[in-house]
Amino acid sequence: MRVLSGIQPSGVVHLGNYLGAIRQHIELQNQADQAFYSIVDLHAITTPQEPKDLHQRTLSIAALYLALGLNPEKASLFVQSHRPEHTELTWILTTIANLGELERMTQFKEKGRSDERNQVPMGLLSYPLLMAADILIYKADRVPVGDDQVQHLELTRDLAKRFNSRFGETFPIPEPVLPKNGARIMGLDDPTKKMSKSATSENNYIALTDDPDTVTKKIKKAVTDSGSEIELSDDKPALKNLLTIFSGVTNNSMGEIVTEHQGQGYADFKANLAEAINEFLAPVQAKYNQLISDENHLLSILKQGSEQVAPIAQATLKEVKEKIGFIV
Ligand code: AMP
Ligand code: TRP
Repeated sequence: MRVLSGIQPSGVVHLGNYLGAIRQHIELQNQADQAFYSIVDLHAITTPQEPKDLHQRTLSIAALYLALGLNPEKASLFVQSHRPEHTELTWILTTIANLGELERMTQFKEKGRSDERNQVPMGLLSYPLLMAADILIYKADRVPVGDDQVQHLELTRDLAKRFNSRFGETFPIPEPVLPKNGARIMGLDDPTKKMSKSATSENNYIALTDDPDTVTKKIKKAVTDSGSEIELSDDKPALKNLLTIFSGVTNNSMGEIVTEHQGQGYADFKANLAEAINEFLAPVQAKYNQLISDENHLLSILKQGSEQVAPIAQATLKEVKEKIGFIV
């Protein structure tokens, strides 16, 4: 089993990213034969990035993965733009995909919503093809992602099948891997929308780098439902989201947490939740601070990751070119 996933170095990394995706990435390093994780800078520039910030965030995500437990001996962590094979395969996929299926992607429709077609970058439309190339270039079988990426993975599967039927069996059909709990963590300020780094308010998310006071303040401000009882119910979406987070950072079940809080109100529940988040984040942040101060060490891990995955990417690209009829 070969696992691949990607994360964008744009904005902060929040608890939604962790519970929806990164936690599984770290777990899968022990179960997969090979686990490849790409910091997808080429995806990040589909929305404007300040060059200095992009550089820093790429290093910061690498440090976070290591702080959260990624072991570079078990999993390869690399920067997407360090492997030119991804973009080369993307071009080939642009000739396999059609415009209609790209225009139907929810993320494109949300981000490219502007009526002003002249303002929508072309890259936002072709973004899922780059993601498909990230996956197919390694012939990955499993792709651990949050719920919001499932549609992109469906497209990847369709493209793999289309390529295989036109040019002969080449790509395995990749399967998404979704967490049982936490595939969609909602915003703290609005439980009807997913927690997002592009949210307008910082009170929407808990960043993995938020300090304890900030975490406590944000949890205190988090929206709750009417009523005052701590219970797990679809009628209480805000509370359900907080319980999912509580369970995610402690590894206690939501049922256990509800039982522990019998007879308590939201204020006590929130104080305990903030404490649990801070307890989870403290060792991660200590490790992160150490790692982020040693840029050369981070760069050497990223270089090693890129070198580990290179032979597979190169072999797939050669095979694809031969099948298409290119002289290689
Ligand atoms: P991104 O930050 O968009 O690069 O996303 C990185 C990973 O985090 C992807 O696998 C997403 O599906 C996942 N993710 C992002 N936001 C959330 C969320 N609110 N809940 C669960 N997973 C999420
Ligand atoms: N599009 C994904 C996101 O926004 C990131 C991503 C890029 C990805 N390439 C990938 C995820 C390949 C899984 C596999 O979250």
